[in-house]
Amino acid sequence: MAPVPNPRYLFLASPAGWPDLSKDFQYDDSRTIDPDTVELNGGFITKTQFLSVDPYMRGRMNAGTFMAWQPGEPWTGFGICEVLRSETPEFQKGDTIYGHLPFEHYTVHCIESAHANMFRVIKNTENIPLSVYLGVAGLPGKTGYYGLKAIGEPKAGESIYVSTAAGVVGTVVCQIAKEWGLRVLGSTGSDEKVKFLQEDVGIDAFNYKTSCVDEAIKDFGGLDIYWDNVGAEMLDTALINMNHRGRIVICGHIAEYNVPDEKKRGIKHTWEMVYKEIRMQGLYVFSYEEQYADEFYATVPKMVAEGKLKYTEDITVGLEHAGELLMSVLKGQNTGKAILQMYP
Ligand SMILES: NC(=O)c1ccc[n+]([C@@H]2O[C@H](COP(=O)([O-])OP(=O)(O)OC[C@H]3O[C@@H](n4cnc5c(N)ncnc54)[C@H](OP(=O)(O)O)[C@@H]3O)[C@@H](O)[C@H]2O)c1
Repeated sequence: MAPVPNPRYLFLASPAGWPDLSKDFQYDDSRTIDPDTVELNGGFITKTQFLSVDPYMRGRMNAGTFMAWQPGEPWTGFGICEVLRSETPEFQKGDTIYGHLPFEHYTVHCIESAHANMFRVIKNTENIPLSVYLGVAGLPGKTGYYGLKAIGEPKAGESIYVSTAAGVVGTVVCQIAKEWGLRVLGSTGSDEKVKFLQEDVGIDAFNYKTSCVDEAIKDFGGLDIYWDNVGAEMLDTALINMNHRGRIVICGHIAEYNVPDEKKRGIKHTWEMVYKEIRMQGLYVFSYEEQYADEFYATVPKMVAEGKLKYTEDITVGLEHAGELLMSVLKGQNTGKAILQMYP
């Protein structure tokens, strides 16, 4: 094969607040590669099919943070790729792999980087769409499943409130909590998403932009578990509505990601934690991978195939649209799991 273009999507500079598409990122289509002849040096070459675009990526633009993106280097994130050629028995030509990938069409990997980037061959015996392995059956799904189990410690009959409930993490938490016998309340930012939660997911839900959050929670009743995707006032309001010995899972703080002034962040009602003996714990999904991954892959893709786990996807075609897609996620404009499909 003659050399083919190998475009990539670069991170250029750390934004102070909201990213600026014209300055902070760049689509670079200047490189080429010959996938048939490029040296593998004992490794393997993959062609990327889907890449996940997630809110946590905003944090990776801040210099000095954990796994910070490096200026001049491609974005990285979880994706699905196909092995084109391999010189290692661990990955065979034709395998579909899930793992942490650079935002580019073709990548040559060594075996050490494949391990470091959590590569896992996806057998897909359930025959679900591959993109779902980036959503409810991927990192966001694992976040919901692992966090609910390990930190939420749910018991049938208990109540849970989930913020950003129509997002990928949120829908997994809501549906698994329901499956495990909990009463579930979710909030989201549009009436269309409220309808999805009520009719498709089958839970109580409200629009936090047009309703009083405190009243909506009080109408539902005290909370045994609060799943926090948002931080800020939402977390404060949940805190004053927790039951005795309630558990708060701190999963994300999307309302604060683009607020550069630290004085404008934070919560006030931590005193509630003292006399109610509330436990608030941060969730870091990767800490539970070894413990729960096999259980997760045996459970969740099957639930999807059987129609027991509903999901929505927002698929954008073309690597050049990565920045716009991330902005829509950060602004709450996506209508499902945000996914970049590399080719039409
Ligand atoms: N702890 C971990 O290990 C871990 C791992 C993965 C993800 N996370 C976190 O989990 C959370 C959910 O992730 P996801 O992938 O499922 O994302 P997601 O729900 O698709 O995130 C986008 C949604 O966030 C909401 N949102 C945006 N700006 C907001 C604001 N200012 N205030 C309140 N809500 C806002 C919007 O939904 P609405 O219309 O409902 O507002 C938007 O559609 C994120 O905070 C993410 O960082 C944590």
